[in-house]
Amino acid sequence: MKVAVMGYGTVGSGVVEVIDTHKEIIKKRTGGETLEVSHILDLRDFPGDSHESLFTKDFNDILNDPEVKVVAETMGGVEPAYTFTMKLLKAGKSVITSNKELVAQKGLELLDAAEESGANYLFEASVGGGIPIIRPMSQCLAANNIEGVAGILNGTTNFILTKMIEDGMTFEDALKLAQDNGYAEKDPTADIEGFDACRKVCILASLAFGKHVYPNQVETEGITNITLEDVSYISSIGVIKLLGQIKYISDDKIAAFVSPAVVQHGSQLASVNGVFNAILVRGDAVGDVCFYGPGAGKLPTASAVVADMVDAAKHINRKKIFGWSAGAEDYVVDYKESISVPFYVRAIADSHKIQSVFGEVKYLSRFGQPSKEIAFITDEMTENELKKKLEGIEVINTIKVTNY
Ligand code: HSE
Repeated sequence: MKVAVMGYGTVGSGVVEVIDTHKEIIKKRTGGETLEVSHILDLRDFPGDSHESLFTKDFNDILNDPEVKVVAETMGGVEPAYTFTMKLLKAGKSVITSNKELVAQKGLELLDAAEESGANYLFEASVGGGIPIIRPMSQCLAANNIEGVAGILNGTTNFILTKMIEDGMTFEDALKLAQDNGYAEKDPTADIEGFDACRKVCILASLAFGKHVYPNQVETEGITNITLEDVSYISSIGVIKLLGQIKYISDDKIAAFVSPAVVQHGSQLASVNGVFNAILVRGDAVGDVCFYGPGAGKLPTASAVVADMVDAAKHINRKKIFGWSAGAEDYVVDYKESISVPFYVRAIADSHKIQSVFGEVKYLSRFGQPSKEIAFITDEMTENELKKKLEGIEVINTIKVTNY
């Protein structure tokens, strides 16, 4: 079967490589069908690349080739990926994507278009890189009411935090290393400010609870305010991770947010290091299940894309049931008002003042702690309650403590 790849960056070139190097196993898994890359769409030139004859700069070469039935979209970004994907789905071609931004923004429309034409729109690679999570969430856990999801969803930030925690490396040096390793997005702002994790939260929330959640509904905070001092205070109780969290509140309400979080030693998420991701799903029947693996990188992400291409090739005349319905503006609640957790607080204050405001707290210490600086863990409260209590106190940083 002829297939095409749109976008020959880190993931797209990995997809072509995996298809080239795994021909026999792919043939077995499709039930006899081989995947032959017939077109690679990219505006750039790749002189000397062994696939030079397959390159095109014209999307219509793929759209108008009736033999191309399955297309991998590894371009990233909303446009032109959205326009191309919509045209392909309407033409009855299945599209496989690793593009979380597109699924988070336009997943509903694209899934509806696939539904209408009978094609498949599959996006296993959009969350957790090589980790199987989309199928397990929508199929294997289908009997559960999902109570919540907590995930380390961004490899770059987890790599940076791990380097800060384990090697005392600066944020800037760790980011540079992540970029050199090909983990970071083209613009690392999407990683370090949490936007990439936010898009993945949208996809998981939409799947888990059946209604589309958009990025602007998910309050998002990145890791740029985390310092080696915070890492040091927290080291006695846990580690700092960038977590995407989703909580069921009622059939019409969920909470969904991305923020740094203190994950306590002993949590399944605490030992997830480097570029690895993990997604912990809490179901009412199954309890906690944790999906762990490489969350970014060329071949892990390509592994998930090519698996979807195999699935699409096997289901060329059958529709996979994936999807969700429209959401609503007030579907995602303000978590600052409704979710109570303990908080790590670092401030310039004395313990009498802290005790008068917070009562008994758990104090933390670090090597080289200035005499006026204080760090502690509060009781459970909402973020708005915390803000009120901290009025008049010179706060350096606050971080939520998670119960996952
Ligand atoms: N930049 C992303 C990450 C790539 O670091 O996780 C995978 O989505």
